[in-house]
Amino acid sequence: MAPVKVSKICCIGAGYVGGPTCAVVALRCPHIQVTIVDLNKARIDAWNSPNFELPIYEPGLEEVVRQARGRNLFFSTDVDKAIREADLIFVSVNTPTKKSGVGAGFAADLNYVESATRRIAAVATTNKIVVEKSTVPCRTAESMRTILEANSKPGTRFDILSNPEFLAEGTAIADLFKPDRVLIGSLQTQEGKDACQSLAEVYANWVPRERILTVGLWSSELSKLAANAMLAQRISSVNALSAICEATGANIDEVAHAVGFDSRIGPKFLRASVGFGGSCFQKDILNLVYLSESLHLPQVAEYWRQVVEMNEYQKRRFSKTVVDTLFNTITGKHIAVLGFAFKADTGDTRESASISLIRDFLQEKAYVTIYDPKVEEAQIWLDLSEALPTWPLETIKKHVSIVHSALEACTQKEAIVIATEWKEFKEIDWQAVYDGMSKPAFVFDGRMILNADELQKIGFTVKVIGRGDRL
Ligand SMILES: NC(=O)c1ccc[n+]([C@@H]2O[C@H](COP(=O)([O-])OP(=O)(O)OC[C@H]3O[C@@H](n4cnc5c(N)ncnc54)[C@H](O)[C@@H]3O)[C@@H](O)[C@H]2O)c1
Repeated sequence: MAPVKVSKICCIGAGYVGGPTCAVVALRCPHIQVTIVDLNKARIDAWNSPNFELPIYEPGLEEVVRQARGRNLFFSTDVDKAIREADLIFVSVNTPTKKSGVGAGFAADLNYVESATRRIAAVATTNKIVVEKSTVPCRTAESMRTILEANSKPGTRFDILSNPEFLAEGTAIADLFKPDRVLIGSLQTQEGKDACQSLAEVYANWVPRERILTVGLWSSELSKLAANAMLAQRISSVNALSAICEATGANIDEVAHAVGFDSRIGPKFLRASVGFGGSCFQKDILNLVYLSESLHLPQVAEYWRQVVEMNEYQKRRFSKTVVDTLFNTITGKHIAVLGFAFKADTGDTRESASISLIRDFLQEKAYVTIYDPKVEEAQIWLDLSEALPTWPLETIKKHVSIVHSALEACTQKEAIVIATEWKEFKEIDWQAVYDGMSKPAFVFDGRMILNADELQKIGFTVKVIGRGDRL
C-alpha cells in the first residue's frame, strides 16, 4: 500500500492547539479541506462569529482565520460527520492533570482522549490516519490503537501517529508558520511509515523537509514531555539563582546575560520571573514524575518534581517579599495587580502566577485591583473562586475589583505588582501613577520589564525579582 494523499482533515478539539494549528494547515494547504470540531458549542460559535470575535487571542490568528474560513476551513459541532469524511484526524483534546482517583495531582486525565478515540471507532467507515496531537504520557498511542482495533468495522484500518505540538501561546502563529521542527512518531512497520509520510507531505507544503523529523511512536510521545520539562527546568534554574541574587546584591539579568554567552547554554529562556504558568509546563512535568514513579524510577521522579517545587517556592517568595516590604502587613492595604494572563499576548490564565499572588494577598486580607488587557472578567472570577474554594464569590468580590486600564488600577494604591509582562505596562505614565498613589509608593516588578532607576528617581520604592538591594 502506498501513502495516502490527504485531502480531508478533521481536528477534534478547537482549543488553543487545535484551532490555531489546523487554521494554519488550512491556510498553507488550500487543496485540503480542514474541519475543526468541538463539543463546546459556544467555542465553535465564537470561531464562526461574523465579526471574528474568536474564542482565543493570539497575535496573527484572526488574519489566518479571515483568509481560510469558508474557503477550506470550517468549524463545526458535528463531530461524527467530520470524522466520517476525513482521511486524517488530529486528536487535539485537553489532557489536564487528574483531580481524583489513581495518580490524582500527577497523572494525565486521558478521559477526553479516550472518548474522542471511541467516537472515531464508532463512526468511521473508511480507513483513517489518527494523529495524537494532544500531549500524552508515553505509550498512549498503544491504548488508542487497542480501542480503535477492538471497535472498528470490518475492513476499516487505523494507523496511529504521534505529532506533538510545540507551539508557545502568545507566538503560536509565528511558531506554526516557521516551526523549529515538526515531530512525527509512527510504528516502524511499512503501514506506520506510509502513514507518517502522508502526514509529512501535509507539513511539507510549508515546512522545509529537514525540519520534519520522523521517529518511533514512543520517542515522539516522550520528546514532548521532555521538551517541556527541560524548558521549565531552565526557568526554575534561573529563578533559583534569582533568590541568590536578591540575597547577595547580584543582578539576575547580568548573571543570565553572562551565562547565556556560553554557546553550550545559549541566551534564550533565561529570564527570571515570578514563576512559570500556563496549561502545559506543570502538567507535563507532573506527568513525567508520575511516569517515572510508575516505571520504578523514584530518583528520576524526585529530580523532575523539584522543578515544580522551585516554581511554587518562587511564587510564594514573591508574595512574601510584598508583605515584608509593606512593613510586614498588607491587611486592609490596596494593591494593584497588573496582568492576570500567565504570559503576555495571550488571554489564557491557566496556572497563571498572578492567581497564586492574588490568592496570597487576599488571604492576608488586602484589597486587590486587577487589570489585564485581554482576560475576560468572568474568567478572573472563575479562577479566583477555584483558588479560594472556601471563600464565597461575594466575599472575594468585596476584596477584589477588576478595572479597564492600568492607570485606573494604580490610582490611590499603596503598591503595584507587575504579574504579566504585557508591553503596555512599560509605557504607563509612571509620574501620573506616582502622583495618584498613597506614599510611600511601592512597585514590585515580577517580570523585570520596568526601568527601576527611572521609577526610583520619580520616588517609588522598587523591588525587582532577582535584584538585591545591596550595591
Ligand atoms: N496550550 C498550549 O500551549 C499547548 C501547547 C502544546 C500542546 N498542548 C497540548 O494540546 C492539547 C490541547 O490543549 P489546548 O490548550 O488546546 O486545550 P483546550 O482545553 O483549549 O482545548 C481542548 C478542546 O477539546 C474539546 N474536547 C474535549 N473532548 C472532546 C471530544 N471528545 N470531542 C470534541 N471535542 C472535545 C474541548 O471542548 C476543548 O475545547 C493538550 O494535550 C495540551 O497539553 C497545549
